[in-house]
Amino acid sequence: MKVVGCIGCGNMGGGVLKGLVAHEGFTLLGHDHTRAKVEVIAAEGRSVSFVDTPLELARRADIIILAVKPYQMEAMLEEIRPALDGSKVVVSLAAAFSQEKLRRGVEERCPVVRCMPNLPVIVGRGVFALCLDDPALNAAAGQELLDIFRLMGMAVALPEAQFPAFSSLVGCGPAFVLLFMEGLLNAGITMGLKAPVAAELISAMVEGTARLALESGESFADLRVRVCSPSGTTIRGVNHMERCAVPGHVTDAVLEALRRDQEMAVGN
Ligand SMILES: NC(=O)c1ccc[n+]([C@@H]2O[C@H](COP(=O)([O-])OP(=O)(O)OC[C@H]3O[C@@H](n4cnc5c(N)ncnc54)[C@H](OP(=O)(O)O)[C@@H]3O)[C@@H](O)[C@H]2O)c1
Repeated sequence: MKVVGCIGCGNMGGGVLKGLVAHEGFTLLGHDHTRAKVEVIAAEGRSVSFVDTPLELARRADIIILAVKPYQMEAMLEEIRPALDGSKVVVSLAAAFSQEKLRRGVEERCPVVRCMPNLPVIVGRGVFALCLDDPALNAAAGQELLDIFRLMGMAVALPEAQFPAFSSLVGCGPAFVLLFMEGLLNAGITMGLKAPVAAELISAMVEGTARLALESGESFADLRVRVCSPSGTTIRGVNHMERCAVPGHVTDAVLEALRRDQEMAVGN
């Protein structure tokens, strides 16, 4: 049975372990400063074993997922390095920590994979980009990782050059969508709905719309036109959004996030 270990079990690492605990076929290990973050993750009688140190976890795991903050990565790689060999793979979830730094961090003792998650991983609906370009990683191992991350949502292989775009769009995206949802919530409350009722309705509507977009194969624009009856209510709202340049502002927000990503990459 594959042994998957996660070092750092906060939002992302905890989400990954929670996602995997529901599936057979893995032995799961976790390490975090706070033992309780590992111990609460259990489902249907299966559990995650707390391991006392990062080094011990790296010794026992086949797949070592690093989900600590980017500034903690170098020290963490140094700490686990003695346990690394060609039978293992290190997967980093750290934003703005390049594949090259990862390779240097493991001193090329094992293959490395840079992975970018997003927040819905905590409910098993994450979207992941995996950079599978390390020459030390063979195709079967790359496919196995994609299959594992697909158990927690959607996973795609992307070249590292596209990570800033992925991160600005899909990593930051939940915040942009949630801000839009806050606007809808204000409208619902203004019209007399109770906040929790409106929030639930809006969340289900957004989820349903996203599923429709994923499953219909139609463009966003074609689907939108289907909701806009001639002389109807929706087109009045859509016209207002167009006058306020909402789509353009959304585009600019993503590009603003991309600019910040680029600043961070050069260390500002
Ligand atoms: N949040 C997002 O939406 C998002 C999106 C994409 C990528 N990421 C990346 O995912 C990584 C994790 O982010 P997060 O939001 O999950 O952070 P988080 O909630 O703060 O989780 C990190 C966890 O790692 C623990 N930790 C740090 N150093 C440790 C060590 N040496 N030994 C044991 N435990 C240690 C922390 O404990 P303490 O708090 O006690 O230090 C914390 O529980 C980051 O690198 C981030 O860039 C996050």
